[in-house]
Amino acid sequence: MPLAATGELIAAAAAARHAVPAFNVITLEHVEAVIAGAEHAGAPVVLQVSENAVKYRYGRLLPLARAAAEAAERAAVPVALHLDHIHSDGLLRQAPGAGFSSVMYDAARLPYEENLAATRAAADWAHAQGLWIEAELGQVGGKNGEPPPDPHAPGARTDPQEAAAFVTGTGVDALAVAVGSTHAMTTRTAALDHGLLKRLSAALDIPLVLHGSSGLPDGELTAAVAGGIAKVNIGTALNVAMTGAIREFLAAHPEAADSRGYLGVGREAMVRTVDRLITVLRDGDAPSHALEAP
Ligand code: G3H
Ligand code: ZN
Repeated sequence: MPLAATGELIAAAAAARHAVPAFNVITLEHVEAVIAGAEHAGAPVVLQVSENAVKYRYGRLLPLARAAAEAAERAAVPVALHLDHIHSDGLLRQAPGAGFSSVMYDAARLPYEENLAATRAAADWAHAQGLWIEAELGQVGGKNGEPPPDPHAPGARTDPQEAAAFVTGTGVDALAVAVGSTHAMTTRTAALDHGLLKRLSAALDIPLVLHGSSGLPDGELTAAVAGGIAKVNIGTALNVAMTGAIREFLAAHPEAADSRGYLGVGREAMVRTVDRLITVLRDGDAPSHALEAP
């Protein structure tokens, strides 16, 4: 089927008080695993490519984007492409030509007024191109190995009143909120501020996005969706699954040389993780059809 549009998937999910899972992809194995997991779960999904992933691919967006678009068009479920955590205007401008229907423009590291001005300019440009745009206010933290922010520091959590003004001032379509999650956690031990999420949900009439979702246990994920999150970003959980499976395979097969052996088990581990997380987000638990035990 043709590429889906992120905004349409999220509008449908938000209307039903569900969330769209959005998985970060780095390699072709990630792309194939996310699509296979979503097909097994029978649910739409967003494939997202971050600016950091583009940097890893020698700064080139198109090789991975074109592979992702080709795979998505052959999927049995709706799949949309999203450009994630973009700082570079040059990369932003490549989005429409590379099959992306949406972008996350990340100026959250800037002081409020600068974040607002940069995001507004990005949103004006994106909308003129027909792109759906997400921005961030507050600091989810943990990107690029940085330590998690002090939750009591000014601006660390998203303030509902400031968020309402930011959305009005920028015209963005969705907002990533800092409510207690942190990027790149390899354990599922984070806890969200559900009271803050409720206040944000009441203050804003656009979809809310959760970043750093790999660090949350199942119950926190389902509570986040119940609390108004409409897009759930997951990256590290795939890398934990892939790397763990490859490490185990190579320990058991020290003579292995064919990369398909270890990449294959890594890919299958990611398929199970995607299927299971989609099932948890959609159904509130992982029923017996899911491919992976908790
Ligand atoms: O934008 C991407 C996500 O926020 C992924 O975060 O790697 O901690 O799951 P994560
Ligand atoms: Zn993120």
